Amino acid sequence: MPESLNSMLRCPNCKNSHLEGSASGQTSNCKDCGASFSIQDGVVDLLPGVKFDRSVSQFFMEFSPVVRIYESKWWRRSSVATFLLKISFDQECEAILKAAGLKGKGDLLDLACGPGIYTRPMARKLSRGRVIGLDISFPMLRQAAANAEKENLKNILFIRANAMELPFADSSFGCVNCTGALHLFPDARQVTREVARVLAPKGTFTISAVRRGPGKAGQVRAFFLDRIMGIRSFTPGDLESMLLPHEFSRFQVLHDQGLFMVMSAARG
Ligand SMILES: C[S@@+](CC[C@H](N)C(=O)[O-])C[C@H]1O[C@@H](n2cnc3c(N)ncnc32)[C@H](O)[C@@H]1O
Repeated sequence: MPESLNSMLRCPNCKNSHLEGSASGQTSNCKDCGASFSIQDGVVDLLPGVKFDRSVSQFFMEFSPVVRIYESKWWRRSSVATFLLKISFDQECEAILKAAGLKGKGDLLDLACGPGIYTRPMARKLSRGRVIGLDISFPMLRQAAANAEKENLKNILFIRANAMELPFADSSFGCVNCTGALHLFPDARQVTREVARVLAPKGTFTISAVRRGPGKAGQVRAFFLDRIMGIRSFTPGDLESMLLPHEFSRFQVLHDQGLFMVMSAARG
């Protein structure tokens, strides 16, 4: 684990910022409380043995066949997804990368990175610093680490942790990206609080999430998505109201149609 991360990573056990890689490279240890976390298949696991309730949608995020096809034209890049979201993955990615304004941003957090579909393009664009890909799903992270390895990208670190309690010191990142995931978190408000805490002043936050459509039809769709799949829905206004108390401004709605909305905001 790179030494420059020692002061940024918080130990999930004692909450101090003193995690460092061991000489063997197979564990990350806390200098304060002695807790040890394994580094397996290129992933630092900060949630060893922690059990979670899984929604139906999260079950799929841990299911190997889905993980394998996630980035392909059978899932995130499928024409069905483009039809439902009213935006193709490539269009979404272009809008997000532009809004993130990665030049000179320092370290970046790709929150709920999945197999790294955004982590890698962001790592390629970053002029300095590194991208931390964080997810709760070990199968997704293992795939993400293998994908990054294949592309020989050295400025990425993958961490298994919970978005609800980010294992980073305050103001650690110049940019946080959270795409396709806000609707899966048990408490999106808590996650936005955590994002605000780890984002440096003037840092950018880019988001794509399931959109709550207008009128009765939108309400009915949101109700069933939530009850059956555990997927919550948002309007750009919902997101703005979650972010405003944390001094976010410069809100930009980049897409707001079909099943998806894409937004960006800046802190301070
Ligand atoms: C649909 S994928 C999104 C992947 C990628 N960011 C994208 O834009 O396609 C959602 C990801 O959120 C992760 N996730 C769900 N709940 C989480 C949590 N509480 N903490 C961290 N990751 C979580 C899932 O494991 C999954 O990999």
